[in-house]
Amino acid sequence: MAVHQFDGVIVGAGGAGLMAALQASKGAKIAVVSKLYPTRSHTGTAQGGIGAALGNLEKDSWEWHMFDTVKGSDYLADQDAVELMCREAVETVYELEHMGLPFSRTPEGKIAQRPFGGHTREFGKGPVRRACYAADRTGHMILQTLYQQCIKQGVTFFDEFHVVDLLISEGRTAGVVAVELATGELHTFHAKGVMFATGGSGRMFKITSNALTLTGDGMGILYRRGIPLQDMEFFQFHPTGIYKMGILITEAARGEGGILRNKAGERFMERYTPTLKDLAPRDMVSRAIHQEVLEGRGIDGKDFVHLDLTHLDADAIHKKLPDITDFVETYLGIDPTKQPIPVQPTAHYAMGGIPTDASARVVVDDKKTVMPGLYAAGECACVSVHGANRLGTNSLVDIIVFGRRGGKSLLEDVKRDPLPPLPADPEKQARERIARLMAEGGQRVSDIRTEMQARMTEKASVFRIAEGLTDVIGRLKQLRKRAESVRLTDRGKAYNAELMEAMELEYLLELAEATAAAALARQESRGAHYREDFPKRDDANWLKHSLVWRQPDGSPRLGTKPVTITRFEPKERKY
Ligand code: FUM
Repeated sequence: MAVHQFDGVIVGAGGAGLMAALQASKGAKIAVVSKLYPTRSHTGTAQGGIGAALGNLEKDSWEWHMFDTVKGSDYLADQDAVELMCREAVETVYELEHMGLPFSRTPEGKIAQRPFGGHTREFGKGPVRRACYAADRTGHMILQTLYQQCIKQGVTFFDEFHVVDLLISEGRTAGVVAVELATGELHTFHAKGVMFATGGSGRMFKITSNALTLTGDGMGILYRRGIPLQDMEFFQFHPTGIYKMGILITEAARGEGGILRNKAGERFMERYTPTLKDLAPRDMVSRAIHQEVLEGRGIDGKDFVHLDLTHLDADAIHKKLPDITDFVETYLGIDPTKQPIPVQPTAHYAMGGIPTDASARVVVDDKKTVMPGLYAAGECACVSVHGANRLGTNSLVDIIVFGRRGGKSLLEDVKRDPLPPLPADPEKQARERIARLMAEGGQRVSDIRTEMQARMTEKASVFRIAEGLTDVIGRLKQLRKRAESVRLTDRGKAYNAELMEAMELEYLLELAEATAAAALARQESRGAHYREDFPKRDDANWLKHSLVWRQPDGSPRLGTKPVTITRFEPKERKY
């Protein structure tokens, strides 16, 4: 058995994981274990910007940022955590700048900022330029910068190691077990602290902006080990994915002046959100696109609309949005400065996830009881700063602020705590799981996954209704049953991607069922969760977070937890 001993192990090498590693490795022996080569992490695909009230181009304040975030969340975000995030966003962006991150610049050399959906001045009076950006490659630049800093600081990386289990002994976190993809061998990582920073689970849907690797591993592993998940019903659909492909066209395209048009060429967002128009929060824009399509105003009568950049200065588009110009040329063969881009909502971001406190410590109940030695940050976590709907750019703020906070708390804890013993035969569960998946079954992983994705997109996306959700839950139960006897054609150990996909599918199926079950239970509409049969927000009964625990048969059990309200009482959301 290969056993590695560290003070702390960070699972996942995206922005949250690397930021945590940088902090924790200042005083402890830290390993980052990732199923990907670090710079392939999904943070690298984040395009439009990172929100921080620097006020470089016009007056701004963290209080306005906080207000926008809380209102954008449809009042479900925990306001103490939002306040910390918006305050610390400013210093963390400067910290990134000082690490060498090549931000785009204003003519005087300050960090450039652009408007984004739901970002306003003076508590909603009109748009404000708050998104700090590096062209449309902001996430890419963050990831490269943090990776370079981690290398400089001597963080140990285990690249292409797929973590498959969490170890718990004597009620404490004791490490993780991972498959080394190159050899298929199991490795035990024995540690005092483990942080999960494994990203989202958008691959449960058919049309998604998420990379193939976004399969909810961290959430799935902890759920299987008895940790609840929070607010799983809230999944964000970004309004502008390339039609049929889901590939993201950044909101910055609208920030730079792009306009959504229906088949009549009408700027339809003026009817839905007259103040912010195309720059309303994503839940509202995605619903408006669906509404246009439902009422027959999609382009050519189909389920997409146009994102029009043709009236904008072509040189500015090429300079400020080079990647999306390239995507559109590559995937659609069109020049976005001359032709409109066909777009539709695409599954983009899990607002829910592993519940944590503001120090990224995982909490296991409605009383904020901490699981010793366990941390989570980034999209796999739910702190909760996004509530029912995340504002654009706040995912990058979240990973940087709470990755940093989590790294600090992990360091503080591992300095004080002893190393817990390993459980007896720590690799037993992983070994047995792999043996079960490698046994001769009859079901193809790809068939089950395709059906799950189709059902989730059809019945559990922008519009939801009880019958559809009940149907999808039934289907997912059947799919889980089928997934118990898969047939893998690759019988080898080295780089057995099929085996990895079978494990990822197990997580996705359970997370999809948790999502649908929480969506069925929540009999109201709030943020990204829209119920056709309960179209109004219902604060009297539903101003609360949901929690979901995995039962021994894999199905979900639901509970709730209060929302923290400090400064902003819930109001009707108008933009
Ligand atoms: O539209 C975008 O550039 C996406 C940003 C985000 O999800 O925060």
